[in-house]
Amino acid sequence: MIKGKLITFEGIDGSGKSTQIKKLESRLKKLKINYITYREPGGTSLSEKIRQILLDKENMELSYISEGLLFAAARAQLVKEKIRPDLDSGKVVICDRFIDSTIAYQGYGRELDVQKLVSINEIATEGLIPDITFLLDIKPENAFKRIDSTEIDRMESVGIKFFKKIRKGYFQIIKDSPERFFLINADQSELLIENEINEIIDEVIK
Ligand code: TYD
Repeated sequence: MIKGKLITFEGIDGSGKSTQIKKLESRLKKLKINYITYREPGGTSLSEKIRQILLDKENMELSYISEGLLFAAARAQLVKEKIRPDLDSGKVVICDRFIDSTIAYQGYGRELDVQKLVSINEIATEGLIPDITFLLDIKPENAFKRIDSTEIDRMESVGIKFFKKIRKGYFQIIKDSPERFFLINADQSELLIENEINEIIDEVIK
């Protein structure tokens, strides 16, 4: 069976993932590569419903454990319904966030047990691991300037200290599995970031 590639983008809120994903999409289109993009939490009708629960600022009573399990449930549904079949049909799958977001946000940010979260997510994804992951690394102070303060969701409302912990968490995740990660300095200009990503993609897609 031909197998596609799973490419994930990670980083704190405001790191510029969505902009870079759009650029990558137009490049893949030009190269006539069959791709599809999903964002987490979301991507299936059930996962989008779970997303609403997770991001709604009304749901402040949601416990950290429920939060972690809901992200994993949304992911399980996305993998089963979409990502697996897409990879099996040979597509390049781009995912705006994946497991590493749970480890960084719920593990290092909310301080839930990292090993347990890894196990829960292995169950959720049936062991699927991205082929490559771009970490768009930016200082939380700079990322915050990019977030529209009138549209802050439940996760973003926690504040800058939370994002500092998440950033450190991402660094730890890279240390634990360096092979699939590409660390990108997202404080650079959009063009420089785009060029760096393109070079890596060329190697992987070849
Ligand atoms: P979203 O608006 O998609 O943010 P972004 O554009 O930065 O990706 O909201 C997703 C939020 O959920 C974001 O704050 C990160 C958080 N999140 C987790 O805490 N754990 C997870 O496993 C995932 C996928 C996201």
